Amino acid sequence: MALLDIQNLVVEFQTASGSFRAVDGVSLHVDEREVLAIVGESGSGKSVSMLAVMGLLPWTAKVTADRMSFGGRDLLKLGPAERRKIVGKDMSMIFQEPMASLNPCFTVGFQIEEVLRFHMGMDKTQRRARAIELLKQVGIPEPAERLNSFPHQMSGGQCQRVMIAIAIACNPKLLIADEPTTALDVTIQKQILDLLVSLQAKYGMGLIMITHNMGVVAETADRVIVQYKGRKMEEADVLSLFESPKSNYTRALLSALPDNAVGNRLPTVSDMLFEPAPQDVSTTGASA
Ligand SMILES: Nc1ncnc2c1ncn2[C@@H]1O[C@H](COP(=O)(O)OP(=O)(O)O)[C@@H](O)[C@H]1O
Ligand SMILES: [Mg+2]
Repeated sequence: MALLDIQNLVVEFQTASGSFRAVDGVSLHVDEREVLAIVGESGSGKSVSMLAVMGLLPWTAKVTADRMSFGGRDLLKLGPAERRKIVGKDMSMIFQEPMASLNPCFTVGFQIEEVLRFHMGMDKTQRRARAIELLKQVGIPEPAERLNSFPHQMSGGQCQRVMIAIAIACNPKLLIADEPTTALDVTIQKQILDLLVSLQAKYGMGLIMITHNMGVVAETADRVIVQYKGRKMEEADVLSLFESPKSNYTRALLSALPDNAVGNRLPTVSDMLFEPAPQDVSTTGASA
């Protein structure tokens, strides 16, 4: 049985200029211990679809689906209170902006302990011990001292480690990582990815890795969904996707890998439409 099973998810926002469909009939599933990557350029509805799963969208969003089940439970039938018991505990999410996701007014220790108090009902001593253990697991040196730090006293990479600590605090079955390294320095990105992958393996979590980077997909995922304009363009296991991509859009994303990238941006569909014809292989061969 799939850990998360979504059929025909649609998210529409009511805006001043009418309704806007950000997610247009996406179906996906994640098995236990599986790493699913969702890729696609900015604005393709990756974050919105996962926020819908977490139940974290604003009231202007209308969410419908034929099915949305997690661990065999129908999320569409749960009330807000029941949903809150799952979100942040069995299913948790790491956001793109670590600095903006932590509350600047509270120490990181308080923010980790808050999750443990709410979801696990731990007392003060248990919470502190667990918070220290978590900071150790995510690779923060001198964890006991760092519990007293405020987010602004830590680097972006360290804040992201704290976010990961909060997300794994209650041993979730599913972790959703929404572009977890985009806001970080390139040198730190690899460390954070390695940390996520090692935690996933160690605790056997299902992991949804949202990214616009095919390099990240190659390094982390078992299976990949390519999303564009709120729709699923392609779904394949990671090897098939790299070896024989089915859609032009996926080919364009693959051409944005560091070896092929022009500038520092993903190609868009208009790039593909106006792409010069591929060079004749025999000509290339002759000149080599
Ligand atoms: N609260 C909102 N109200 C209206 N439109 C939104 C809202 N949040 C996101 N959108 C729109 O939904 C689309 C998908 O956004 P998003 O899921 O954030 O894309 P991404 O694939 O980059 O994560 C975008 O066009 C975005 O502008
Ligand atoms: Mg996003």
